[in-house]
Amino acid sequence: MSSATEPDHQTARCLINGEFIAAQDASISIFDHGLLYGDGVFEGLRFYNKNIFKLDEHITRLCRSADAISLPMPVDKNQFTQWIHNLVELSPLKDGYLRLILTRGVGALGIDPRNCQTGNIIMIADTLSLMEPTKLSEGIQLITATTRRISIEALDPRIKSLNYLNNILAKLEANQAQADEAILLNSQGHVCEASAENIFLVKDKTLYTPPCSDGALEGITRSVVLELASALGIPTTVHSLKPESFYHADECFLTGSGAELIPVRSLDGIAFQTSVGPIYSRLLLAFKKEISLNSD
Ligand SMILES: Cc1ncc(COP(=O)(O)O)c(C=O)c1O
Repeated sequence: MSSATEPDHQTARCLINGEFIAAQDASISIFDHGLLYGDGVFEGLRFYNKNIFKLDEHITRLCRSADAISLPMPVDKNQFTQWIHNLVELSPLKDGYLRLILTRGVGALGIDPRNCQTGNIIMIADTLSLMEPTKLSEGIQLITATTRRISIEALDPRIKSLNYLNNILAKLEANQAQADEAILLNSQGHVCEASAENIFLVKDKTLYTPPCSDGALEGITRSVVLELASALGIPTTVHSLKPESFYHADECFLTGSGAELIPVRSLDGIAFQTSVGPIYSRLLLAFKKEISLNSD
């Protein structure tokens, strides 16, 4: 939710390298290359009724991101997983959001990663509300950002890195236009995704989403939605999409671990046939069922 007031983080709990630290006292060195250069990787995930949704998938993606930037995980997977469970137990929340961060660690000034000895692991559990409830019932407004997605040749989108400036520039454009979110195109003019969510459209009862090779993150919620659609008998197609395909679509929605499923009412001022469409609604129901199956 966009707000200029400083959040109080009352419900936040935090572990740094496995150690519990009160959220208001938690800090990292100004020499951590995660801060200095965005040199690190992260994951955002949710827990429902204290059960962590798709934990294995998120850990696998984090490890893959870390491997891709030659950043060794400072502890083994079992230890890492245990810390996450400890944090969820410490959290006063039954349902909440987790942020897992692995930075390159403290080093000398200068970007050379060899300057850093050991990575730092930061884990935060708190609430996360990306959109006001009314937006979820009415659908949000999107714009197409003029900022293009960093090409996949420059940065593999499978690396979920701490450097989100490309996405933030798009979000700034959305704010400037008084829209709720922005979508980014790649240099060929194909739609990639929103600033922190994957995107889907529905046309003639078929579900479409761009391939990750066009520059989108391999979203875990995206995969869940594709699987749920197949199980519901909704035809799915993953292929490149131009913005024009969206202008004639019946429905559109965004997906993400933080976002869950967000309905979209318009793109660049052009309204979709339905703001909260029937296929979106079926998928949302199935998604909630999937969560409850994981939360017993
Ligand atoms: C750029 C971007 N795309 C898509 C997503 C959605 O991915 P997931 O469903 O794995 O959370 C995110 C989530 O953080 C993201 O940052």
